[in-house]
Parts: sequence; C-alpha cells; structure tokens
Amino acid sequence: MSLIPKETVDQIILRADIVEVVGDFVSLKQKGQNMWACCPFHHEKSPSFSVSPAKGIYKCFGCGKAGNSVQFIMDVEGTSFPEALRYLAKKYSIEIPEETASPEASREQNERDSQYIVSEFASKHFQRNLHQHEQGSIGQAYLKERGLNNATIRKFELGYSLDAWSDLTDAALKAGYQQHFLEATGLTISKEDKRYDRFRGRVMFPIHNLSGRVVGFGARTLKSNDKKSPKYLNSPESEIYHKSNVLYGLYQAKQAIRMQEMCYLVEGYLDVLSLHQGGIENVVASSGTSLTEGQIKLIGRYSHNITVLYDGDAAGIKASLRGIDLILENGLNVSVVTFPEGDDPDSYIRKVGDTAFKAYIKEHAQDFISFKASLYAAETKDNPVRKAEAIREIVTSIAKIPDSIKRTVFFRSCSLIFDIDEQVLISEYNKMQLQDRQQQQQPKTGSAFPPEPPMPTEPEPEEQVSEADMLKRYEREIVRMLLNYPNRVLDEGMTTCQYMLEQLEDVEFRTPLYSRLVELVKEKLCDGTVPSADDFINYPDQQIRTEATNLLSDPHELSHNWATHQIFVPHETDLLSYGAERAVLRLKWRNVQLLIKDEMEKLRLVTDPNEQINQLTTIRTLKMFEVQIAELLGIVVSR
Ligand code: UTP
Ligand code: MN
Repeated sequence: MSLIPKETVDQIILRADIVEVVGDFVSLKQKGQNMWACCPFHHEKSPSFSVSPAKGIYKCFGCGKAGNSVQFIMDVEGTSFPEALRYLAKKYSIEIPEETASPEASREQNERDSQYIVSEFASKHFQRNLHQHEQGSIGQAYLKERGLNNATIRKFELGYSLDAWSDLTDAALKAGYQQHFLEATGLTISKEDKRYDRFRGRVMFPIHNLSGRVVGFGARTLKSNDKKSPKYLNSPESEIYHKSNVLYGLYQAKQAIRMQEMCYLVEGYLDVLSLHQGGIENVVASSGTSLTEGQIKLIGRYSHNITVLYDGDAAGIKASLRGIDLILENGLNVSVVTFPEGDDPDSYIRKVGDTAFKAYIKEHAQDFISFKASLYAAETKDNPVRKAEAIREIVTSIAKIPDSIKRTVFFRSCSLIFDIDEQVLISEYNKMQLQDRQQQQQPKTGSAFPPEPPMPTEPEPEEQVSEADMLKRYEREIVRMLLNYPNRVLDEGMTTCQYMLEQLEDVEFRTPLYSRLVELVKEKLCDGTVPSADDFINYPDQQIRTEATNLLSDPHELSHNWATHQIFVPHETDLLSYGAERAVLRLKWRNVQLLIKDEMEKLRLVTDPNEQINQLTTIRTLKMFEVQIAELLGIVVSR
C-alpha cells in the first residue's frame, strides 16, 4: 500500500462524521448529548455503546472498545489503519493522491493490484465455467452430491476449472492480462516455452482476504481415487497470498464470529461450507496447514473464544495439539469438540442434520486443557513414568496461559483428572519457570546472583497486585486530567498542565504508556501550543489513540440519570483545583513508597558500614517525605 499523505489523512478524519460512520453498522438513538446503541463488538441486550458527536468518538462501557471514526472501521472491519482510511475516503469521495508514493512503493502497489485483478478475473472465469459451460455440469453435480445448495455455491463464489490444458490462461491473455501476473499468482505454469493452467478439471474454492478480494484458490479433484494427483491443489504463496495470514471463510464469517463471540475452527473447505449452510456461520478453516500465530491473531480481532472441531482419529488430534498451545499463548480461550471416528464436521452435519449437530457441539465442547489432560491421563494410567511425562506436557500447556487466575483454575481441574495433588503440578510449573529464567539469565549475569525465586502460581499475594495497579491508576488519573482539562486555570493561577507538570517534574512515570502520553503533552507545551483532544484521538499510534479516547470519555456520562433523581452531582470541573492537587499528591506518595522499596533493596546488598549509614539516611529522608505527603492527603501512616 502506498503512503497516504498527511493532509489527506487529516482531511479524511475531519470529514468522517462519527455518527454517519457508525450509523452504517448499528442504529443509534439519541439520549442526552450522546447517541446510544447495542455494541457491535459484543453481545448485549441493553445499549452500552455510546457515540459522542461533539468529541467525534465512540465508546462501549460494556467491553471498553473506544476510538474515533477510523478506529471504528478498524475494529468493525478488522482492517489496518491505512485500509480504514481508504474505506472512509471512498465513503466520502475523497481522492487519495497516489503520486507521492516512491517509485518502488508504487511499483509494488501496481504488482499487487495487478495480482488482485487477475485473481478476480480467474474467479469470475471459474464461476462462468461452473454455471454456463457445458463441462460445468460435472462440477455442479459434484457440489450437489456434497449437499451444497445454490445459495452457498454463489455466496462462496465456487467455480470450476475445465479439464483442458490452458483454458484460463488463454482466456486471460485474450482479455489483455499479462502473462507475468498469471504466473506470479500461480494460475499459469510456464515450462520452457509451454504454458498451462495449474488448476484443471477441479472444483474451485476462491480464498478471500478480509476485504473480500480473491487472493488464491483451493481446488478439489472430482476423481475419488486418483492416486496420481493430490485431492486438493492450492495456490502458491504470492505477493497477495500469504498462507500464514489467511483463513478460509473468515471474510464470510467475521460478522458472525464477532456477534456470537465464538469462532469455530475446522480443517477443510467443505467443513466450512457445510456448517455455514447449516446456519453455523462463525466458522473458518486453516486449510490443511498447521495453525500459525498470524491466523490466531486474525481470529483474535473478532473473538477471544475458539472452538476447534476435530476429526475423530487420535493421530490427527495429537498432531494438532501444538497449534492449540499457540492459541493459549495468545491469550485466547480454546475448547475442543471431537467427532465419532471416521467423521469430520462436514460428514457429521450431513449425517445428523443442523439441529442435532448444534446440540452435539454444545454437549461435547470441552475446554482444551481438560481435554488434553484426559487424553493423556487415560493413556498413561498404568505407567508411572509416562504419567510423569504427561503431567509435564500438560503443565507446559498451562504455562502458556498468560492469565494467572486461569492458570490456577486449570491446576485445580488437572489435579482431579490425574488424581494427584495440585501442589505437584504447581511445583512442576515453578521448576519450569526457574529453568526458563536461568536460561535467560545465564549469558548476562553468570552466577553472581542467586536466581530469583519462581513466580508464585497461587493467585499472587493481594498486596503485590494492587501495588502495581495502584501506581498505574494514579498515573492514569494525572494523564486523564492533563488530557481533559489541559488549559483550565486552577486556583493557583496556573493551568492544569503547568501545575501538574511542574509539581511532577522529578517524578518518573513508570507505566510506559502514560510516560509517553506525558511526554507528548510536554512536547506540545514546548511547541508553544496547548494540547487538544484531537491531537491524541487522532494520534498515529494505536495504543495512544485508544487510551486517550478512553481518558477523554467522560466517566460522569453514565451517571447522568442522577440529575433526574434530584441529586446534585458536582461536576469535576467545579472542584478541579482540589482534584488536581490530590492526584498529584497521590502519585508522589506512591512514588516515594516505591523509591523507599528500591533503596531498601539496595541496602540489603551493601556490606560496607559507611555505605550502609548513607543508605539508611537516604531511606530516612524518603520516609519523612512519605509521612509529610500522607498527612497532606489525610492518611495516617505508621512510622
Ligand atoms: P481432508 O482430506 O480432511 O479434506 O483435508 P476434506 O475437506 O475432508 O475433503 P473432502 O471432504 O474429501 O473434500 C482437509 C483440508 O486439508 C487440505 C484442504 O484444505 C482440505 O480441505 N488438503 C487436503 C490439501 O491442501 N491437500 C490435500 O491433498 C488434501
Ligand atoms: Mn471431508
């Protein structure tokens, strides 16, 4: 994609009215100053998704999604930033000047565009063959026999490649497409001076990217027992087709995945089609390759829940276990459904019908860890050595889960499945963590320091969690005030920005995101301008944008119904000076406590008596600060 000039980006953002943009996807109702709807990103019965026309942002108070028009398109369509801009440019007929792209960039762009166009031509050609060519009836008969109806065939743009050497190649060349692009997409194979079609006499399954453009094909032979050619042929990798970042059916499934908050993952093209036709539209296939991180991230854009639908045979299951660990590692929830030996999702739904199939999935879905544990537990029941191996294997999977509470739950359930003490699993986990750490530390520090104790696996001690959280919360509060009221004059006669930044001059923000936001505010002030909400809501970096939008969404908006109950709720700005002062004090207080902790740590390592005294003096001074600040905050501290 070529670069979109900054002015055009600004123009698009200015022009893209949040109400219009969101209104294309959900129906908004006015309530107070804002518009409301049921959130398009998660299931809900009463609206918690709000749009503020004044601020040009949306925010869901249920799931937390928030942003401007561009972010909305990125979220709802699962696109990148430039793709979303292009979408909006199209909607508002804003022309994107392309000539600013560097020569290489535009050559690349042309190459890719041409590959898209020739793939589209091929897809149309295969569809024409299926529906209009006399040979097409063979393909049609096959698809009918596989139980697919016309609506499904059309929706997935299925086609047929003639049983001839160069039907597609000839048609494309005749229509003026260049041979180079036919070869680059793998549609045409050239050997010496001969050219022929890769796909011949096969049913064609076009593979779409997220915006619905054809990027490649899967092609199934109609011969049931042809040992010479493979059952499925697939397009090779090309500029537009990167297998590790594509899932078959995702384009057709994405809305359903988001709404159901669930993605079914199957293996084959026909599994996708049969389920889709049976009313299960939230289904995608990895198409015979093992699952990649890119594919998992793609699903994660739409839902955090994946259910893997497996064929029955144990060998296949074992082979897929690694891929599933990868899903866990990415923080998604995984369940597994297996089918009776010899059936795959396609054959099973055709055997039992839609209703029974849905019931079967509901009944048999099992979370992945328990599934894996049961599988191994059954296999190794009478063999202690193999049982130990199996336990290690399961713990490896559990260790991949980033969330410590979830891990704890799984340690418990697996201890039941293996009929062993939970503590055995936890200490196995600790050993693994320790080994990992030692491996990581070795090159750097040698053995000068003893290894840190392993991470606790029980829910971390209350205090530790909230300490980190507390600091983050205090930092967030400062940034929130900086963004919301940068230029308000406080009682001290300074603006919020001036006051806070001066007060916190020596305080280092420890949360990277907030540290960056504070830096951005400072930069603006140095430039002699006042930071405005738009600077942040439209900031190029996604993380900054999202957090700024959240911070700028007035938290009081939700409680506006208090006013109707005749209860006076003072607005924050009425007490801004007081609020700013307290926020500053709280952060300082927290910081001093952390400094004390750091210095105490240092003290433990100091052996020289003089240094020890110095260190103690530092700590005592810090403690004094702590007490002073606490008194200002009205907090009693024990000395
Ligand atoms: P299966 O052989 O299980 O396919 O391979 P299937 O969908 O059940 O095939 P039908 O029902 O007999 O038509 C699963 C997937 O693996 C890939 C395809 O994506 C297929 O859908 N595959 C399989 C290949 O790429 N090449 C092959 O030769 C076989
Ligand atoms: Mn099958």
